[in-house]
Amino acid sequence: MDNLISLVNKIQRACTALGDHGEESALPTLWEALPAIAVVGGQSSGKSSVLESIVGKDFLPRGAGIVTRRPLVLQLHKIDETREYAEFMHLPRKRFTDFAVVRQEISDETDRETGRSKQISTVPIHLSIFSPNVVNLTLVDLPGLTKVAVEGQPESIVQDIENMVRSYIEKPNCIILAISPANQDLATSDAIKISREVDPRGERTFGVLTKIDLMDQGTNAVDILEGRSYKLQFPWIGVVNRSQADINKSVDMIAARRREREYFQSSPEYRHLAQRMGSEHLGKMLSKHLEQVIKSRIPGLQSLINKTIVELETELSRLGRPVATDAGGKLYMVMEICRAFDQIFKEHLDGSRSGGEK
Ligand code: GDP
Ligand code: NA
Ligand code: MG
Repeated sequence: MDNLISLVNKIQRACTALGDHGEESALPTLWEALPAIAVVGGQSSGKSSVLESIVGKDFLPRGAGIVTRRPLVLQLHKIDETREYAEFMHLPRKRFTDFAVVRQEISDETDRETGRSKQISTVPIHLSIFSPNVVNLTLVDLPGLTKVAVEGQPESIVQDIENMVRSYIEKPNCIILAISPANQDLATSDAIKISREVDPRGERTFGVLTKIDLMDQGTNAVDILEGRSYKLQFPWIGVVNRSQADINKSVDMIAARRREREYFQSSPEYRHLAQRMGSEHLGKMLSKHLEQVIKSRIPGLQSLINKTIVELETELSRLGRPVATDAGGKLYMVMEICRAFDQIFKEHLDGSRSGGEK
């Protein structure tokens, strides 16, 4: 199954590369059929922190106010090598091994599109991270939902961000990571509000409660974490990310995870929930869920891919062979991946149908 998720990642990458060249084909449809996980929530609710701990790396620009101003499509690829590296789609063939430089590039690439203003852009940044320490996932980081425009922003920004976020999470195959801070009333949670709109039954929404360590003394999050305050299909997951003071002191990810584990295991309120709390558990849950979703969609995806192969062949013959252009090369690449994907589907179906027809 690891294999299947990794192929899905490759197809998504290829589809997006092709989409950049404005080729009209069935590929956007294919892209939309594949699941990805989007992170939504209010500004400074802890979205970037949660993403970083799923990845196990410090690489995202963080801070107070509106830092994330373009969608970031992040693909995690599990590899066997011990070396970790990152690649941006807008900088092909350039490998980043210093994640501080990755963070700087995200920030620079944001400015290239929006200027140094506090404006937002719907044009996504595509980043891939290759590491032995991740699970194969595609994650989308989105600008935080906000209530008022600040200096330098147009009045429309509140609605613009909401529309952008909605355009990602309204897709039925988008898995929503709804981030709510525990030190604010859940009734005011932007994440819950917008995810309930697009997923009323909570069938593809994971509730993540951040900042549990920052709750008022004498209060706790047990009612939320046990699903009594707001019920979702999946159990709520509580996390404790690094505080701003930790970040300033450069507390590393490993230490942060250990501390998070200790936090849940040692507090009398949460001890009984400790095994299903924390960032590591969240990463595992997501990977497992993604596998189930892909598995359940195999027959549908297979026919979509068959259709795409036919359309790709038509497109290729239109361009004429051999194709030397960039677009042609990419089409070949996508087709090859589709064929490999198709093969895996066939093997899976053959395996599960004991001698059934194609
Ligand atoms: P984003 O705007 O939603 O992406 O939020 P960030 O991840 O940038 O976090 C905003 C601020 O909240 C940062 O200063 C983080 O250090 C802090 N923060 C996030 N999660 C937690 C948490 O669980 N506990 C504590 N104490 N601080 C947190
Ligand atoms: Na922020
Ligand atoms: Mg952020």
